[in-house]
Amino acid sequence: MDNQSDDVRLSAIEAGKARIASAHHDQLLSVSTFHAWQLEPAFMELFQRIQGHTLVDVMRCHELWSLVAESSKIAGDILEVGVWKGGTGCILASRAQMIGRKGDVFLCDTFRGVVKAGPHDASYVGGEHADTSIDSVNQLLIDVGVHNCIILPGIFPDETGAIIASRRFSLCHIDVDVYESGRGIFDWVWPRMAPGGVVVFDDYGFSVCTGITILGEDLRARDDLVFIHNLNGHALLVKTKA
Ligand SMILES: C[S@@+](CC[C@H](N)C(=O)[O-])C[C@H]1O[C@@H](n2cnc3c(N)ncnc32)[C@H](O)[C@@H]1O
Repeated sequence: MDNQSDDVRLSAIEAGKARIASAHHDQLLSVSTFHAWQLEPAFMELFQRIQGHTLVDVMRCHELWSLVAESSKIAGDILEVGVWKGGTGCILASRAQMIGRKGDVFLCDTFRGVVKAGPHDASYVGGEHADTSIDSVNQLLIDVGVHNCIILPGIFPDETGAIIASRRFSLCHIDVDVYESGRGIFDWVWPRMAPGGVVVFDDYGFSVCTGITILGEDLRARDDLVFIHNLNGHALLVKTKA
């Protein structure tokens, strides 16, 4: 590609990103009325138990709960990056344990807050969500009776990816708030995802996480995935090719 067409392509990308950064955000009152989570007392009890340990609402927590079972049709471990106080990690691990899902659940966090904030991230500077610890997450897991988790403290994948580099995954939950972190985690995990496996980006539909919305739009163009924008705020990326 010559320099001029390269410039045109790059300015189109920049224009797209500027458009996302200024996109309209407003709370949407869904006309859907089916509260599937209320049919599952075990989920409801756990969701109550993790209040104060999660920033994630009932719709997204229930989607994670459901995806643990759906993705168990495909062999692979579960990876979460962005654990904070352990709420969504508990949902993933608890459901996996309850259904006797094969494989491990890896929970990865710096435990010193958000890292790699950059120009795409309108509301983050780095260091947010540092008010947690490995001990408090471990205690929550013990309290809810979960014992199928391995916690990996450190920046992922830079500091802890090597420990699980030989694993294959069928479900990955990325909840890290900012572009560069999300990009690095996706690039690491995608070749290790089994076909049919799902990567879930929390943060995609939220005005404070512009970097993850931009990342989702970047990834949407790939030809080896189906991109689903769930209006609960999740972006789901289903791998279609080996
Ligand atoms: C919004 S919180 C996660 C919320 C959690 N999933 C819940 O249930 O509410 C974002 C977390 O991502 C972590 N984080 C961001 N980038 C990371 C990275 N590259 N490696 C590991 N942890 C990261 C931060 O330390 C922070 O705890």
